[in-house]
Amino acid sequence: MNVTVTVNGKPYTRDVEPRLLLVHFLREDLGLTGTHVGCDTSQCGACTVHLNGDAVKSCTLLAVQADGMDVTTIEGIGTPAALHPLQTGFWEEHGLQCGFCTPGMIMSSAELLKHNPSPSEEDIRLHLEGNYCRCTGYHNIVRAVQHAAGMMAGQERREAVEAADD
Ligand code: FES
Ligand code: FES
Repeated sequence: MNVTVTVNGKPYTRDVEPRLLLVHFLREDLGLTGTHVGCDTSQCGACTVHLNGDAVKSCTLLAVQADGMDVTTIEGIGTPAALHPLQTGFWEEHGLQCGFCTPGMIMSSAELLKHNPSPSEEDIRLHLEGNYCRCTGYHNIVRAVQHAAGMMAGQERREAVEAADD
């Protein structure tokens, strides 16, 4: 079956098997290996991407279900020269060790901050309950998300001041 999916702003059309999972489409057909596969049971969250702006576990969807939709992966939310605040937060707060869970943690946290720009520690822990980390014990992940929320709030305040000065 032909599917056309816009991934990180670029449209891709591929002929795929109807049973192909979205995560395998991203990794194997498009070579976007930042999205990880950590389980066989849809529990770990390592495969989290955004589908039309909502965080989804890409191992729970078929590639054909994403036909005509927009997907954002970890490769699409920042660049080495201009990191996303969450990427900076994970760096600054040591929110990773092996890094295997990190793409999914960041994509899931990005959805949280979109809906709740100032989450409490409990909000963060609750939102990330579908993302497993086997290394960090989660404390620094929570700090990383708080760090990003602070950066984003500061950025918004600066933009508001600049707009008022214009
Ligand atoms: Fe998708 Fe684990 S690989 S939830
Ligand atoms: Fe290793 Fe999270 S940093 S699994």
